[in-house]
Order: sequence, then C-alpha cells, then structure tokens
Amino acid sequence: MNVLQIEGGFRLRGEIEVSGSKNIALALLSAVALCEEPVTLRNVPRISDTHMKAHLLEEFGAKVEWDGNNLTVDCSGLKMGYPSEESVRAIRTSFYMLGPLLARLGEVELPAPGGCKIGARPVDYHVRGLQLMGAEVELSGGRYFARATKIKGADIYLDFPSAGATQHLMSTAVLAEGVTTIQNAAMEPEVVALADFLRAMGAKIEGAGTATITIFGGANLRGTSFRVPADRIQVGTFLLAGAITHGDVTVLGIMPEDQTAVVNKLREAGALVEETSETVRVKVDNRLEAIRIRTMPHPGFPTDIQQPMAAMLTLANGTSVIEETIYESRSGHIPELVRMGANIQSEGRTSIIQGVKRLHGSNVVASDLRAGAALCLAGLAADGVTTVENVHYIDRGYEAIEHSLSALGGKVKRVAVEPRKVR
Ligand code: EPU
Repeated sequence: MNVLQIEGGFRLRGEIEVSGSKNIALALLSAVALCEEPVTLRNVPRISDTHMKAHLLEEFGAKVEWDGNNLTVDCSGLKMGYPSEESVRAIRTSFYMLGPLLARLGEVELPAPGGCKIGARPVDYHVRGLQLMGAEVELSGGRYFARATKIKGADIYLDFPSAGATQHLMSTAVLAEGVTTIQNAAMEPEVVALADFLRAMGAKIEGAGTATITIFGGANLRGTSFRVPADRIQVGTFLLAGAITHGDVTVLGIMPEDQTAVVNKLREAGALVEETSETVRVKVDNRLEAIRIRTMPHPGFPTDIQQPMAAMLTLANGTSVIEETIYESRSGHIPELVRMGANIQSEGRTSIIQGVKRLHGSNVVASDLRAGAALCLAGLAADGVTTVENVHYIDRGYEAIEHSLSALGGKVKRVAVEPRKVR
C-alpha cells in the first residue's frame, strides 16, 4: 500500500495551477449520455473518480478515449448496461446518470448508491424529481429500476438546494418534452458549469447560478468540445496549505469569485489575501487568529473546505468553532488531528478547536477525501514526519497531491509500505 510521508516545518511558497474540477467533470460525465454525437471534455482531472466514471459509461456502450487530460466520449451506441454494485457505490455520482440514461434508453437499472463516511446521503430528491418528470422509479433488492415512455417537463421544488439533484434533474430535463423549472436549486459553480456545457450542446437553460432554473426541453443536442474549469476546492486547499505553513502561495488560472467565502475567512483569521481576475495569493507572517465557520450551500462556506480549514485552525490563536450543516458526520479528520496534538472537542456537528502552538508528526489515517487533504495540511505544519494512510481517498480528488505540494516547497513523498507496518 502507498502512504504519503510528509516532513513538516517548511513554508510553502510559489505559484501553482490546479487541475480541472473533479465535481464538474463528474457532472459532465453524466450529462454526456444525453448526446448522440461525440463530445470532447478538455482539462479533465486524471483522478480515480473520472477514470471509474468513464469505465461506467463504457458499460453502457459508450466509446471513451483519453488523450492526456482530454476525454472524448461517444454515446451514439448507448445501450442497457448492468454495472456492478461496487462500480456505482465507488462514485456516488454514477447514480446521477440515471436520468440521462433513462431519457435516451427509456429504461434503466442502477444499483443504489452507497452511503459514505460523511453521512447518510440519500437520493430522494433525485427520485422524486424524476417521478415528477413522468418516470416510474422503483427500488428493489438494492437496485433502482426506472422506466419512462416519455420524459416530460415538470415543476420541481427541492427541499434543500442539493448540488447533485439540481445537476441530475437539469440534465434530464434537457431531453424532456416541455419546460422544467427547478425551485430552490443549488447555486454552486458546478451547476453553472454544467449548464454552460449543456448549452454548448444546444440546450436552452436559464437561471443556472440562481435559485430558480428553467430548462426548455426537447433540444436536438450536438457534439461539442468543452473545457472543465479549475477545481475550486483544490484552490481552497492550496491556499490553506500556504496559510498553515506561514507561506506565500499564489493559485493561478482560477475564478476568484468562487473563493469569496474562503478568502474572507482567511482574511478574518489574519492572512493577507490578494486577488486579481485570475489569481489568488495568500501570505501569512504571524500566527493566525481563531474564527467561526458555518458550512452552507453556495455562496456560503463550502463543506468541502471545512476539514482543511479545521486543520489550519488547530494552530490559530484562541478558540475556533466550526459548524457542519450539510453533512451529518464529516468529522473523520478530528481524531487524527487530535493524535497530532490538536485540541478539538466535538458536540454533534460542531467542533470546538482550541488552538495549540505545535502539531507533532504522527501516523494518521484518511477517512475520506477532504479529511485526507486536512491531514496533509496538518503534516506540512507539524514538527517531524507525518504518515498519511488511505491515500486512495486523496487520489479521488487531487492529481498526485505530493507533486503539487512539493512544487511549492513542501517535503512530501509517496512511499510504498507493507500494510502491517502501519496502523
Ligand atoms: N440530500 C438529500 N437527498 C437527496 C440529495 C441530497 O437529503 O436526494 C442531502 C445530502 O444528504 C446532503 C445535502 O443534501 O446532506 C447536500 O448534498 P448534495 O446533493 O448537495 O451533494 P452531492 O451532490 O451528493 C456534491 C459534491 C460534494 C459536495 C456537495 C455539496 C460531487 C461529486 N460531490 O455532492 O463533494 O460536498 O455537492 O457541495 O459533486 C467532495 O468533493 O469532497 C464532495 C463530497
């Protein structure tokens, strides 16, 4: 097995460009099934999640071809597929292909997506939305069976602005007969990027990025080439890596308006943050101050940055409070940070972090993707060597994170070890 070995205590400095967004690429890799002509996605991150999702498309008859970070998908020969439970459980957004596949094939069967280590993550909004659009959807023996002679436009209200349900239903509605509105829609940049992609294929969509999205169905979609925008969660992660190490890091080629919540909180904690139209720079000279964070749907503070932010706040002066409102239990990083010397108390979904002066290198285990990123950040700032296990979680969202952090002056390497030698 591989671990990341991090020698802490080096300030990160320099410029970095992040890869294309994981969550946008995954949404596009569901929507490509709508189109009968080949589609090329550019700047696709070469991470395990995008590879697995591309394989899944192949199980439904798609032809898939990688050329570096460009991925061409030809869904002209789409047919019924019977993917294994593991392949759908491995990436939750596989389930979000149900609507587009149904719109193309009239019938589809997919295993129920699994829960993961950040909470229950049901799919009821997805199912209800598809039913409103005329689909019959049944869960039986751990598999969803969906059938529709015709997908029709519908007025859909989401109880919560779910990013996934908004993306799934918006995509499906493109091939529906008539107009669909999604109220209380998610406003995440990933939704806006997906709408841009669907429009590039010929769809007519208004309001993406607001709480009401209108999709005028029945478009004749055509093939297109689309560049996946930069990964805003990676941007936040590298800014925090700069901040936790008292470094000076500039992230290039991004949309700073997607970073407003993170940038504001970094400034509140005492970091110097400079923005241009395509870059954000963070510089920290003195010990950071404690702050309060509450995760919220966009444009609120992103839940995906909550865990790396917790790592940074373990070393801030005073008592920080983090309230996670999106997921039931996105807290797998806490016991590991405590092993490294952090002082954190959990009360339900709230963490109270009493800043300490030092973290100590330890053997720690990533429980999920962003917990893994948080532990890498803590390791960069800790005394001594930190070993992070379960690197496969980190690989789901960061293309070779050790290279990115090393390019900024961190001492991070991937090392193969015998499983029994680590906790
Ligand atoms: N929810 C329901 N019912 C549903 C759908 C969602 O109750 O039918 C709940 C979820 O359980 C959760 C909340 O609504 O408590 C928000 O979930 P959402 O649907 O918005 O999340 P998602 O689409 O499954 C995406 C990202 C996540 C990110 C969230 C929130 C992808 C592949 N994943 O998940 O990214 O945390 O939006 O922004 O796009 C990550 O990258 O580390 C990650 C987990």
